[in-house]
Amino acid sequence: MSLQKVQMTTLDEFLMNHPSPYKNLNKIYRQITFSCKVISNRIKRAGLENLYGSTSITNFHGEEVKNLDVLANNTFITSLSKIKDVGALVSEEDYDAMIINEAGRYIVTFDPLDGSSNIDANVNIGSIFGVFERTGDGKITKNDCLQPGRNLITAGYCLYGSSTILVIAYNGQVTGFTLDENYGEFVLTHNKMTVPEFKPIYSVNEGNRDSWDPKVREFVDSLKSTEGGKKPFSLRYIGSMVADIHRTLLYGGLFMYPASDSAPQGKLRYLYEVAPMSLIMETAGGRAVCGEVPALDIVPETVHQRVPVFIGSSGCIKKFEI
Ligand code: AHG
Ligand code: MN
Ligand code: MN
Repeated sequence: MSLQKVQMTTLDEFLMNHPSPYKNLNKIYRQITFSCKVISNRIKRAGLENLYGSTSITNFHGEEVKNLDVLANNTFITSLSKIKDVGALVSEEDYDAMIINEAGRYIVTFDPLDGSSNIDANVNIGSIFGVFERTGDGKITKNDCLQPGRNLITAGYCLYGSSTILVIAYNGQVTGFTLDENYGEFVLTHNKMTVPEFKPIYSVNEGNRDSWDPKVREFVDSLKSTEGGKKPFSLRYIGSMVADIHRTLLYGGLFMYPASDSAPQGKLRYLYEVAPMSLIMETAGGRAVCGEVPALDIVPETVHQRVPVFIGSSGCIKKFEI
């Protein structure tokens, strides 16, 4: 009987076969992916363990904090704080940067649970993370957390859906891994991911249309136009950035969160939503802009700075820029 050869490449094996120039980055990946496994499991059991719903807390963003937001945040902080190379953490759920170890060399920024408004409806949600190296040689400071996305040494997201998929921008390529729950391992399933150069899909919350900048409004209206027999773009909007970006990465198209009256700087936060996703999209051959400026060139002034974002296929971004 020929033993069925196990063809799976686990994430650990992939990281071992593609060593990073950044020391001990694999340890950070081990802690991040363990956190994602825990969160994935709890989300699947949320209805059985009464984890849906909100705490009584409204956070400093003015958003109601969901029970699973707290669980996810605690999971990331607990697991990452065990790594002595981690100097600081920036979480969407914490008011300020957390200095974990002044001698540490890495800063990990993360949105522990993205798409929280979708949790109770069992719609795809995710976690987003980015890793920076400190800028100086001395003790790590909060200033080390305010770096442009161009400085990210790696970034990724985990999408909790019909399957749990980890996508990372690492060593100059984008790679996807699917959680095999039989073994509790992330297994390579999407090698060298590249975003299609163009796709007539746009992804935006049209409910904010009346308060967009007129240029944005005209652009989005042009995508829907059937003038001269043109085929209009399709609208796809899930409301979880991770899910909308994952679809855009796989199918192509354009995801947007423009500035609006309710979000004059844009809604999405730079350090743990826009910068990591922009690194992933650019590494996959796509583009990301915050208005006129490449998203990766923005230098945030605060850890929760919001920016407008247009991200996806380079051909779609070019259409926006003409
Ligand atoms: P979070 O749940 O981490 O606060 O993020 C929600 C974000 C993002 O996931 C999504 O793209 C956007 O909010 C949707 O905002 P609207 O509901 O205003 O469209
Ligand atoms: Mn988010
Ligand atoms: Mn969140």
